[in-house]
Amino acid sequence: MENAKFVELLLTAEIFNRYENLNENDIPKDIRKALYNKGGLKRPLVVKEENAIRYAGKIANDLPFVDINPMTKQFKITSFELATKWLASRGFELIKRNPVLAYYYENFDSLDVSYEDAKKANPPAHGDREWLSSVIAELSKVEETREMLDLVRIFSPEEINVEFDSIALNEEQIQEVRKIEIALAEKEYLRNIGLVDIGKILFIGPPGTGKTTTARALSKRLYLPLLEVKLSMITSQYLGETSKNIEKVFEIAKKLSPCILFIDEFDYVAKMRTSDEHAAIKRAVNTLLKAIDDINLVNDGVLLIAATNHPSILDLAVWRRFDKVLEFPEPEERIRRRIFEIFLEKIEGDFNIEELVKETDGFTGADIKLVVREAVLKALLEGRRRLTQADLIFAIEDIKSRFKIRTQET
Ligand SMILES: Nc1ncnc2c1ncn2[C@@H]1O[C@H](COP(=O)(O)OP(=O)(O)OP(=O)(O)O)[C@@H](O)[C@H]1O
Ligand SMILES: [Mg+2]
Repeated sequence: MENAKFVELLLTAEIFNRYENLNENDIPKDIRKALYNKGGLKRPLVVKEENAIRYAGKIANDLPFVDINPMTKQFKITSFELATKWLASRGFELIKRNPVLAYYYENFDSLDVSYEDAKKANPPAHGDREWLSSVIAELSKVEETREMLDLVRIFSPEEINVEFDSIALNEEQIQEVRKIEIALAEKEYLRNIGLVDIGKILFIGPPGTGKTTTARALSKRLYLPLLEVKLSMITSQYLGETSKNIEKVFEIAKKLSPCILFIDEFDYVAKMRTSDEHAAIKRAVNTLLKAIDDINLVNDGVLLIAATNHPSILDLAVWRRFDKVLEFPEPEERIRRRIFEIFLEKIEGDFNIEELVKETDGFTGADIKLVVREAVLKALLEGRRRLTQADLIFAIEDIKSRFKIRTQET
């Protein structure tokens, strides 16, 4: 088996190098991971000993059609024909799930495999952490872009650890996520019928209601890199800088495409407008609005999500740029019940969740998370891992008294 995987790896690289119409998304994810180098995955792919060990484990190189260069430790197939015959008789299962090989064997060896089927099951390369690193490395070569990269956060979906199912969302929110998924899958169709104004969403709602968490979970679920930027971070006191920064952010998003561009603290745009109406600031706002107009999911592969706690200060010019406004309200009973279930799932103890729900009117998801954390820490202090209802009620009261302080202050 190890040898079969070894030959699979060598042939994948060889066939990929021979057929220009194959791209990195055709290489199986685990083979990509074994072959990535600093420049990403560029032709010609080479297989060195370390790559082979990474993918196939221990290799016994006693195959008559493989040579190794003792200097470079690079493998070479000496007879392509022998190699393909050898794998066809021993590695059918491997070929079937490998789009590069399926492409070759389907077209040139009439083996009963399907390129389309193999491709459907293979996750695309833009979700790989290594792919993202290589794009970022490429972008950092330009000094201006490198400076910009310090002001934003870029996540690979592989690095995100929040699951979509661990967020309590209402029907409308779930429905909207489904629509985005469908739009992504049917991009070609939407382009053909001229429906390109899609994929710009504004998340509105009070702090702690799951806006940022949902954007991150979407990145994981849709398997798209996430470019996160806070509008306040890219506004500069230097005249003209802000416009340039905004343009750069959108440029980076297009380079990372397909990806999600998440613009947080979006209401900052309104603050920019009302601050003394300096020409440079006006220009920055216009740059932002124009950048939003010029980008879309269907043509650029960029899903734009903006988030704000203060929707009321946004004006019409901003609102109409989004094809969907998705509300993140303070969670109603049903949603709070689900949030408690999610946060208490792994915790030992007997709880009356109904009572907790009744006692937490006006609490956000973030508040409930805090309740559970406080209760757990208090129990631990008392030497217990088993949580009681009283611990939770105590924490709820505690948080409520903090609310009072909060409202007195403002
Ligand atoms: N509906 C929810 N389901 C599960 N967890 C939630 C929910 N809402 C909030 N949380 C939890 O609360 C925390 C804060 O949420 P998040 O940062 O997404 O809020 P936000 O809406 O982005 O807030 P802000 O407006 O302050 O940026 C997260 O860690 C998340 O786990
Ligand atoms: Mg947030």
